Amino acid sequence: MNVCVIGSGGREHSICFKIKQSKKLNNLFCMPGNAGTSEICKNLNVDISNFNQIYSSIKKNSIDLAIIGPEIPLVNGIVDFLEKKKIKVFGPNKKAAQLEGSKIFMKNLCNKFNIPSAQHFSISSVEHAKTVLKKMETPIVVKSDGLAAGKGVTICNSKEAALIDIISILNGKFTSSNQVIIEEFLEGEEASYFVLTDGRNFKQIGTAQDHKRIGENDTGLNTGGMGAYSPSLLINKNVEKKIIEKIIIPTITGMEKIGCPYKGILYAGLMINKGEPKLIEYNIRFGDPECQVLMMRMKDDFLELIESTINNKLDNHDINWSQHPCITIVAASEGYPEKYENLQEIENLPNNFKDKNVQMFHAGTIKKNKKIFSNGGRVLNSTVIQPTIKLAQKKALELLDDVNWKNKYYRRDIGWRAIK
Ligand code: AMP
Ligand code: GLY
Repeated sequence: MNVCVIGSGGREHSICFKIKQSKKLNNLFCMPGNAGTSEICKNLNVDISNFNQIYSSIKKNSIDLAIIGPEIPLVNGIVDFLEKKKIKVFGPNKKAAQLEGSKIFMKNLCNKFNIPSAQHFSISSVEHAKTVLKKMETPIVVKSDGLAAGKGVTICNSKEAALIDIISILNGKFTSSNQVIIEEFLEGEEASYFVLTDGRNFKQIGTAQDHKRIGENDTGLNTGGMGAYSPSLLINKNVEKKIIEKIIIPTITGMEKIGCPYKGILYAGLMINKGEPKLIEYNIRFGDPECQVLMMRMKDDFLELIESTINNKLDNHDINWSQHPCITIVAASEGYPEKYENLQEIENLPNNFKDKNVQMFHAGTIKKNKKIFSNGGRVLNSTVIQPTIKLAQKKALELLDDVNWKNKYYRRDIGWRAIK
């Protein structure tokens, strides 16, 4: 089979790394990919916001199956578009993608099927906001309804601050939506839970813990993720049972009942407090960098699992995992998530790792004249499996310490909770 992975981050590099191991694969492509994916597959220089360009490139390269990495093309209906043209595609369709594309849609589903999540209010006007805020206690969580590249949530310590934020969203701060919801603040620890589902059957596809903040000790600005490890130690058998019974099953059956059967990766962002999970949000794709640690730990043929998902045959599979934990540490350009310099030459970058337990995935990198340059906020993901998280962290740091570019920045404490 000829397969194309769509996207250009560390997530997509790790999906390519995993698919490359499949016995069902003939040729592998990445659209548009990065310097790292170009080492293991053929990059196709396509603007992935242009679905017609994607389709032409798929036809030209006789690609049979497209795997979609990021959320934006999914929310914009890439699956519906390619399916209409008889191309196999892995991911939820436009209707089902609303689980991430609209927080109001997701909250309505929670209410309808009694899925535990924070109490919320959809706000229709400034006057309405003022009335609702009177009833609430601080901190108050203000969210934009639509996609906001990780910037759509603010935790406000005063009602005045919440109102300012609400007004700016109502006035169009985010282009994806000017609808806003406010939520009660949930206490606890966050964890991510992933399932693969064909719309009826589902398989647990790993747990992970990410570090969203830029600074050590989880301080500073929020980022897309500065590192992750798997498995999550917060999710024991007892908590997992609750996640499945109270959150995952009602979601999958609920989506079918409302006419939006969900196919693909479903990523539940959870808050766990005293052993009780609540849903914070759904994502309709793998997390980045959580995907990197899951792809390393998965022992099965992922392409086979994807085909079974598309063909509604997931019940025939069991998914097996490395006994050992995996960590990924993100090296970013200094300044990220705010302003940073691009196009710094990266030296001493190892490639061609023979050991499948040690990989340097690329995110924002670009190759020019056989040299590799930084090309984004998050640049590299040093990803290692070892018998303990502590050993994995040590090895992942050693790999990054040896790589040089002018504004390299990474946290040295990824996995600290698990190590403690
Ligand atoms: P979201 O985009 O909904 O995942 O929110 C981004 C981050 O905001 C989450 O990962 C949490 O850290 C935080 N967050 C969102 N909603 C809540 C909530 N109701 N209570 C506490 N923290 C929240
Ligand atoms: N690492 C968080 C995300 O991909 O949404």
